[in-house]
Amino acid sequence: MRSVHKGVMVDVDRGTPITDWWTDIKVPTGPRNKEKSGYPTQKPLALLERIITVSSNPGDLVLDVFAGSGTTLLAAQKLGRRFVGADINLAAIQTTTKRLLGAKNPTQPDLDDEEDASVSDGCGFEIYNVNHYDIFRNPVEAKELLIEALEVQKLEFSTVFDGEKDGRMVKIMPVNRITTRADLNELIAGFDYKAWERKQNENPNRPVEKISLVCMGHEPDLAAQLELAAKPFKIEVEVVDILRDKANLEFKRDSEAKVSIKKGELVIAKFYPMNLLQKLSIQKESVEDWRELVESVLIDWNYDGAVLQPAVLDIPGKDDLVKGVYKVPDDAGTIRVKITDLLSESWEGSVSNGD
Ligand SMILES: C[S@@+](CC[C@H](N)C(=O)[O-])C[C@H]1O[C@@H](n2cnc3c(N)ncnc32)[C@H](O)[C@@H]1O
Repeated sequence: MRSVHKGVMVDVDRGTPITDWWTDIKVPTGPRNKEKSGYPTQKPLALLERIITVSSNPGDLVLDVFAGSGTTLLAAQKLGRRFVGADINLAAIQTTTKRLLGAKNPTQPDLDDEEDASVSDGCGFEIYNVNHYDIFRNPVEAKELLIEALEVQKLEFSTVFDGEKDGRMVKIMPVNRITTRADLNELIAGFDYKAWERKQNENPNRPVEKISLVCMGHEPDLAAQLELAAKPFKIEVEVVDILRDKANLEFKRDSEAKVSIKKGELVIAKFYPMNLLQKLSIQKESVEDWRELVESVLIDWNYDGAVLQPAVLDIPGKDDLVKGVYKVPDDAGTIRVKITDLLSESWEGSVSNGD
């Protein structure tokens, strides 16, 4: 326990002032260390506890937008602070979820129990998928996938553009993040002013170029910024935001699952995490026990159609498997099941009590 007295941080337990060079907190190491989550950049819990203790009060809101393994959130939870965390990496969200769920009592987690957090009731936090930046696992392949999915004609002689479609020049912008004005620089540097001059002389009233920018989210004035940079030439820019329009695109193979209610029990009969199987070069037919490919099963017995609030959290320890069969409570309504595989990719589906 630490507190600040007259501008000096004091370790209350030991009564010694803490200097600005913190050497008393050690990074969790060793294979048997229970604090270790396996996340490569994990920070010591004691470090985050100290920072949160001296800089906030119980009930305050702690925000960590680069949550990683969730150390900040765990410390916040332990110290009775509310918290919001975010991470772009699915595995980070999964590790964080596991660690937070490991705390049986939300205000006083017991890390020693982290390993045996198999099935517990309620969890005191919710998980939202606020964007879909996980569309592309491999940004290098992304361009090829997009060109194929959008049916873009590749250009024989490469220019700054990636292809052509319906008379428009297509540029695939960086994937897995929003496109900003700075991302247009390469394109602007490659503008072919000589060709534009010729086109303008031929057809003075027509735009000299029609351009489609393919991106995953963008600054609101992106098209206008590019049109402005082309002055005095007139170009026409459209922005194709694949996060918004992604219903029409299919890149990843979705996972499949067979879930049903039998004699008052929810039974997961089959689960095929297609990307994982592809990575392991395993055929669907060769999966003997689907549970070996699964990291967790979460079940919300009364799904509100928006946020998964799981009452069942089946997260086995390293050497155990999920149960796969769960007793359905009497008051169950729309049941939502979330099965997460070893790549932290999830299948989610609803089952009605009566199916
Ligand atoms: C150094 S780690 C944080 C470690 C954390 N303090 C812990 O104790 O585990 C940084 C995290 O930031 C995440 N990250 C990087 N860029 C991000 C972005 N643009 N949005 C959200 N998270 C991001 C990474 O996925 C990584 O998990």
